[in-house]
Amino acid sequence: MNTYRCIRCSGQLNAHDGRYECASCRAGYPVVDGIPQLIAEQPATAGDRKTASFFGDLFGSFDEWMHYLDQDTKKNGLRTMFAANGIDLSEVLSSKEKVLEAGCGYGRYTYELLKEGGPDGKQREITCLDLSQENLVMNRRMTRTLFPDSRNEYVRGSVTAIPLPDRFCDLCICTGVIHHIDDYWKGLDEVVRVIQPGGTLIFAVMGSRGLFLKLFWLWRLMNQCIPYAFAKKVLSGMRISDQSRRYILDAGWAAHYHQVGFKKLRSYFLAKGATQVAFLEIYRKMYGYSPLNVWFRGEGFMHMLVRF
Ligand SMILES: C[S@@+](CC[C@H](N)C(=O)[O-])C[C@H]1O[C@@H](n2cnc3c(N)ncnc32)[C@H](O)[C@@H]1O
Ligand SMILES: [Zn+2]
Repeated sequence: MNTYRCIRCSGQLNAHDGRYECASCRAGYPVVDGIPQLIAEQPATAGDRKTASFFGDLFGSFDEWMHYLDQDTKKNGLRTMFAANGIDLSEVLSSKEKVLEAGCGYGRYTYELLKEGGPDGKQREITCLDLSQENLVMNRRMTRTLFPDSRNEYVRGSVTAIPLPDRFCDLCICTGVIHHIDDYWKGLDEVVRVIQPGGTLIFAVMGSRGLFLKLFWLWRLMNQCIPYAFAKKVLSGMRISDQSRRYILDAGWAAHYHQVGFKKLRSYFLAKGATQVAFLEIYRKMYGYSPLNVWFRGEGFMHMLVRF
C-alpha cells in the first residue's frame, strides 16, 4: 500500500471513512470508484481541465483498444525500441521493483511491464497516476482482466503535484505527458523528485527540431476554428487506423503542446544528477524510415533513457 502525500502541504494522508485525510492540514480527498482523487478540487488551470477530459475521450473505450494492445506492444513497445538502440530492456528493468507510471493513459506500457513480469517471478508494484479518471478506470480494467496477480495501484493526480513522497520509485515511466502540461518544468521537477538515486526514467516528449514539428504549429493554428467533436466525427468516417486518428487529434486539439529540444533536456537532467541521458532513435532504428523522412521528422517524438 502506498503512503500518499497531501498535495497542499506534503503531509501524510490517512485513509479515513472511505476518503483520505491529511494528518497535518486536515485537507480531505474523496475516493471515486476505488480511486483516490489526490488532485486540486478542480484541476488548477483551464488547460488542465481540458486535458483531463480530452484524453479520457480521446482514448475511447476499453473494447476499442484492447484488441491491438499485444500487436502494438510487439511493434512499438519498450522492448522493441530499446533493442533497436542496442539496449536490452531486461537490463533496464533488472532489480527495479517500485514503478511510477506518470500519466499512464489507457495502459500500453502498464501492459508491457506486467507482461515482462517482475524480479523473482513476482509482479512489480506499479503506481498508475493520471489526470483522467476514465483512463485510470480503463487501465485498471485491463490489468484486472489480464494480470490478476498485478499489484498495481491507481491514483488520480497531476504530474505537477505528485501525491507521493520524495524518492518514491526506482523506475519512472513518463511518456507523452510533460509536453501536454501547462507548467512543463514544474512537472519535470516533480518527476525527478520521486525517483531514487540509482533509479531510471523512461521519458518521451516532443522535441524542438525538424520541419515536421514546425508543421505542427500550423496544424494547431488551423484547428483553432474547427471544433474537436466535429474533427473526431469526420476522422471516424475516414479509412485510417484508430492509432493514426488519435495521433492526429492529439496533435491538433490537446490543450498544450510544448516543444523543448534534447540539448536543453539533457542539460536539465545532468544538473539534476543524472549519470546518463541517452536519446533513443525511433524513426531510423525502430521504424526504418528513409533518410529524407528522418530528416523531416527532426527530433520528433523524442524518447530518452535517463539514469540517476
Ligand atoms: C498522450 S497520453 C500518453 C499516455 C501514456 N503515457 C502512453 O505513452 O501511452 C498523455 C496522458 O497524460 C495524461 N496527462 C496529461 N496531463 C497530465 C497531468 N498534468 N498529470 C497527470 N497526467 C496527465 C493524460 O490524461 C493522458 O492519459
Ligand atoms: Zn495537508
